[in-house]
Amino acid sequence: MKKMIVAVFAVTAFAGSAFAADVIEMKKGVSFKHKAHVEAVKDCKKCHENGPGKIAGFGKDFAHKKCKECHTDMKKGPTNCKGCHSK
Ligand code: HEC
Ligand code: HEC
Ligand code: HEC
Repeated sequence: MKKMIVAVFAVTAFAGSAFAADVIEMKKGVSFKHKAHVEAVKDCKKCHENGPGKIAGFGKDFAHKKCKECHTDMKKGPTNCKGCHSK
């Protein structure tokens, strides 16, 4: 399964970022389900203020602010370390 996800990501990345992978593997064991988020949140702008694609300055600070903020607001999605980080 993991191999397949990596392969899908490699292909989409290679195609020039027109589409995001269904699942994006991030640092410290975070598996971000992009497709599931698009379905749950719908509005791309909630995360991509400046249009789709790589998010400028994406990393720990962005994640711990934006990801957690929305999970808290919507009362859905993890807000504890282990909910996002598998390691
Ligand atoms: C809940 C937050 C969220 C929503 C909603 C969301 N995205 Fe994303 N998206 C991300 C994150 C986080 C990344 C990874 C960003 C990075 O690595 O810079 C990403 C990556 C991408 C990428 C791939 C960039 C790359 O080069 O790998 C594309 C394209 C993209 N999103 C398009 C969209 C579109 C189009 C929508 C709306 C249909 C959308 N996203 C909705 C959070 C979101
Ligand atoms: C704008 C709102 C929003 C933002 C921003 C957002 N999420 Fe979520 N997230 C959700 C919602 C809503 C759910 C619950 C989806 C469901 O239960 O169907 C969720 C669920 C999750 C889950 C648990 C679902 C699973 O099985 O994987 C993880 C992990 C997660 N989010 C990680 C992240 C990370 C990492 C980021 C930032 C890169 C992020 N989220 C940003 C709304 C958001
Ligand atoms: C809502 C999901 C979420 C929660 C909750 C969360 N994190 Fe994170 N964290 C992330 C994401 C996403 C990143 C950025 C990953 C990347 O840059 O690829 C990150 C990055 C980090 C990093 C930096 C990793 C690196 O190598 O740059 C550390 C350390 C970290 N988190 C620790 C924690 C701790 C400790 C907690 C609990 C207090 C926590 N996180 C809670 C999603 C989360």
